[in-house]
Amino acid sequence: MGLHSSDLPDFPWDLLAPHKARAKSHPDGMLDFSVGSPVDPTPDLIVEALREAANSPGYPKTGGSATLRAAIREHYRRVRRVRPPERHAILPTLGSKEIVATLPSLLGLSAGDAVIHPSVAYPTYALGASLAGALPVPADSAEALPRGTAGRVRLVWVNSPSNPTGKVWSVEELRRLITWARERGIVVASDECYAALPWTEPWISEGVPSVLDPRVNGGDLTGILALYSLSKRSNAAGYRMAWICGDPLLIGPIHEIRRHMGMMMPGPIQWAMEKALGDETHVQAGRERYGARRTTLQGALSQAGYAIDDSQAGLYLWVRALDGRDDWAITADLAALGILVAPGSFYGDPTHVRVALTASDAATSAAALRLAAP
Ligand SMILES: Cc1ncc(COP(=O)(O)O)c(C=O)c1O
Repeated sequence: MGLHSSDLPDFPWDLLAPHKARAKSHPDGMLDFSVGSPVDPTPDLIVEALREAANSPGYPKTGGSATLRAAIREHYRRVRRVRPPERHAILPTLGSKEIVATLPSLLGLSAGDAVIHPSVAYPTYALGASLAGALPVPADSAEALPRGTAGRVRLVWVNSPSNPTGKVWSVEELRRLITWARERGIVVASDECYAALPWTEPWISEGVPSVLDPRVNGGDLTGILALYSLSKRSNAAGYRMAWICGDPLLIGPIHEIRRHMGMMMPGPIQWAMEKALGDETHVQAGRERYGARRTTLQGALSQAGYAIDDSQAGLYLWVRALDGRDDWAITADLAALGILVAPGSFYGDPTHVRVALTASDAATSAAALRLAAP
């Protein structure tokens, strides 16, 4: 690892503190739409499964139990409607943030290598590149690559549906990316953690496309990795349930290193995850809840002089002021109403703010009232 803690960027949320204080001083209290941390209860079947498996004296398998891997494969078949990777090409992770942050290092990247990530993105893609000593390059197309970097790229991140924009990549867009990367021997890692939350067509009917779809990859997983997380799908961010899978030749060495590191998903969590994957009823209930909040917020923000861009899927509204105010000005204005949001600068775009759908129903309704009568 080529990074010292003193080299780390400011933790962006620290910069929001003054606005948080302002929002908290609202006479009716703060309504928090800044962080995408679920607030609704973890479904009973997951809590029960964790209890059931709590007696766990032995070490779990780094690669996950055979039944967990089977449940993940079944999830791809039944829910994502794609051909699942081989059993041994699936690896549980402790949430997906840790694997986003360590993947460049685990793939052996180092100084001289470059990692492409979307220009407006979850910041951990860039951090993971820096941790490996590699260069993070924000770019949305090959043409946008800075001079001199093209030959150094070893890994490209795609995040669909995107945090923060909610953009979804089509089968055709993913196919073009994979073709481009394959011709150059570049690994494609696809973070698909919001795939269960489509809000617009064709994604509602067809599902959000995955890099594991044979229409995208031609039936060949060479150079392809897919990540998924149950944090948002199952209101279980506290359980840290996620995985990475794809090309066996890439997963094999990652598995081996993680075995040596002791990066094992706890056995009771493996069992809870297996049970969670077997149930879509709670996922549908979550989708309906988030969908209702999204409609309320979308209406209230539109009435209050804001436009919603992209936001085709995922856990956020990507919001712009019609009068062109920048992200920090919007953040300040909303904080004066006691409404806390995340400035787009945290993700590389100062023209928008991100509004999470993870406030309670009561907080969402209260925000709509405050926006209507400031
Ligand atoms: C795009 C993206 N990837 C990964 C994560 C990490 O989620 P977790 O570590 O809970 O799986 C998040 C969390 O907000 C995210 O937005």
